[in-house]
Amino acid sequence: MSILVAGGCGYIGSHVCKMLSRRGYDVIVADNLSHGYEDNAKWGKLIRADIGDRAALDKIFAGHKIDAVMHFCAYIEVGESVQEPAKYYHNNVANTLVLLDSMLAAGVKNFIFSSTAAVYGTPSRVPIEEDDPKVPINPYGRTKLMVERILADYDTPYGLRSIAFRYFNAAGADPDTEIGEAHVPETHLIPLVLDAALGVRDSIKIYGSDYNTPDGTCLRDYVHVNDLADAHIRGLEYLLNGGASNIFNLGSGSGYSVREIIDTVRKVTGREFRVEEISRRAGDPDVLVAKSDKARDTLKWQPSIGLEEIVSTAWKWHQKYRSNK
Ligand SMILES: NC(=O)c1ccc[n+]([C@@H]2O[C@H](COP(=O)([O-])OP(=O)(O)OC[C@H]3O[C@@H](n4cnc5c(N)ncnc54)[C@H](O)[C@@H]3O)[C@@H](O)[C@H]2O)c1
Repeated sequence: MSILVAGGCGYIGSHVCKMLSRRGYDVIVADNLSHGYEDNAKWGKLIRADIGDRAALDKIFAGHKIDAVMHFCAYIEVGESVQEPAKYYHNNVANTLVLLDSMLAAGVKNFIFSSTAAVYGTPSRVPIEEDDPKVPINPYGRTKLMVERILADYDTPYGLRSIAFRYFNAAGADPDTEIGEAHVPETHLIPLVLDAALGVRDSIKIYGSDYNTPDGTCLRDYVHVNDLADAHIRGLEYLLNGGASNIFNLGSGSGYSVREIIDTVRKVTGREFRVEEISRRAGDPDVLVAKSDKARDTLKWQPSIGLEEIVSTAWKWHQKYRSNK
């Protein structure tokens, strides 16, 4: 079985490629390397291609018998999406349409899409369930919700069977330290705190300590990237076995505050660093925690990696990454 992994040179996509390969799937990666790393394509053939390039995609589908597509390509910075929405609508929505056109023209009907908790905006309740209101509060979240709606519309007329996985906070790294999280620019909390622990940053900033949470800092749901990868394999097998299109939250169900993350990094690394408390940023909800019962019941998926292991795998990889720079 051959799986086309669009965006397989990025953080989450590369971990999924490794697991796919370990489970016996042939992997073909399509990535334009705008934010990914060539070195991350260790588990399959890398084709340097933009998913907005219809001719390049048609060539990939003509040259390989692809059984399913996993789509990780996107621009992912919320703040930038507010400043440059066109960039986000073009890449995250319009280019996704090109990928769908090309795969459907080639007769490929199984599709797994990386969606996000950002589709919920400020949640009406926590933990969040899939059917809760979806009112994204920035263009990034809106692009992801638009693609979810497109996938639903394409199902019956085009026979497209899809899964949209709404990830909460992806975190951690490959325990073998072959790959890990290295976004440029980095906006995710754990690698930023690890940079402070390493002394690459002067301090870590806490944006707001007056949220409606036990310690006043925002609470988020961290899920290990290999638990996400495992969900993708289960989702793939569900589709290949004839499962209907579906949408699943992927989170641990536990919320950790910014202060708890900082404390866990101190504990795991044994290092001290400066913490600055500053005012809130616009658009950060108090709490984002997933209810992932649907993935548990339908895909038999359950995250198995807790916060300390998330941080320790990230720390191991992060030291190696920074020492090679
Ligand atoms: N990281 C998280 O916590 C998180 C949370 C929720 C959702 N997501 C979603 O998961 C997906 C993967 O996230 P990530 O953290 O691995 O991001 P990433 O930036 O590391 O990976 C994205 C990859 O897609 C490639 N890409 C982007 N546009 C492309 C295009 N037009 N053509 C070809 N390749 C292209 C990039 O080069 C990169 O390798 C994204 O869709 C993101 O929105 C991530």
